[in-house]
Amino acid sequence: MEPIIRIRGLKKVYRVGEERVRALNGVDLDIYPGEFVCIIGRSGSGKSTLLNMMAGLEKPSRGSIVIAGEHLEKMNEKQLVDFRLRHIGFIFQQFNLFPSMTALENVTMPLVYRGVSVRKRKAAALKMLKDLGLSKHVNHKPSQMSGGQQQRVGIARALVSNPEVIFADEPTGNLDSRTSEEILSLIQAMAKRDNHTLVMVTHDPSVAAHADRVVNILDGLIVDIVDQTGGSSAPGGSAAPSGGSASSGVATPDAPQPAPEANPNLTEEEHAS
Ligand SMILES: Nc1ncnc2c1ncn2[C@@H]1O[C@H](COP(=O)(O)OP(=O)(O)OP(=O)(O)O)[C@@H](O)[C@H]1O
Ligand SMILES: [Mg+2]
Repeated sequence: MEPIIRIRGLKKVYRVGEERVRALNGVDLDIYPGEFVCIIGRSGSGKSTLLNMMAGLEKPSRGSIVIAGEHLEKMNEKQLVDFRLRHIGFIFQQFNLFPSMTALENVTMPLVYRGVSVRKRKAAALKMLKDLGLSKHVNHKPSQMSGGQQQRVGIARALVSNPEVIFADEPTGNLDSRTSEEILSLIQAMAKRDNHTLVMVTHDPSVAAHADRVVNILDGLIVDIVDQTGGSSAPGGSAAPSGGSASSGVATPDAPQPAPEANPNLTEEEHAS
């Protein structure tokens, strides 16, 4: 089977004043269609950097990322936005919902960007909210919902455009343990149901226990990949810790914002987390 995500020699160097932070040091990784892959590793090891680059939210300093046959590292900002709308759903730790919009309006947003008709996008969003058990909350704003409910809206928004790949960065990090389990089961069940590829960053070993494969990152390198499907364990990719060109060091904003108001600036918030 061809991988849906193919990463080769991926490096990311951030410039902070005079200093250079090597967030990724040469990552090679293949992820296959329908897989559930967890990325683990201690704080600062490069998990979010890797996920953001796979999702086209940040540009690599070196190396290549091919998703569904397309080279993300060669795309300009506009192409990346378009690519994300077509192929990628992202679930954030902080939910990143528009605070002044209802659940329904939040879930509709990706379809607004994609130019789907009002009638069709409302129907799709309502169905997704219903599937996630939120029929009674479609007209609620984020502040009128619990954390778990807000994250279900976040999941609905990530899935509504039926993307091939779903990325989730600590999606249960802001929830209590019982709600975390519910949310995790929901994400997994939805991904399985529609055969989405799921790539999730987590600190939680009990979350990683559900994954098909667990990728362990240390200091910007994959040090271990554990296959939990009953297959054998494969070594992680590695590369000499040298080179790496200067990067812009600037996180790129997410999708264009025809939005009425607040720009949640998804990438920035992710980094704040
Ligand atoms: N925008 C940025 N500018 C400068 N340095 C950054 C930036 N984003 C991340 N870094 C640095 O890159 C390294 C990897 O960060 P990253 O956010 O990927 O870690 P992480 O594994 O997700 O950690 P955590 O578990 O705490 O979320 C860290 O040293 C971090 O300080
Ligand atoms: Mg992180």
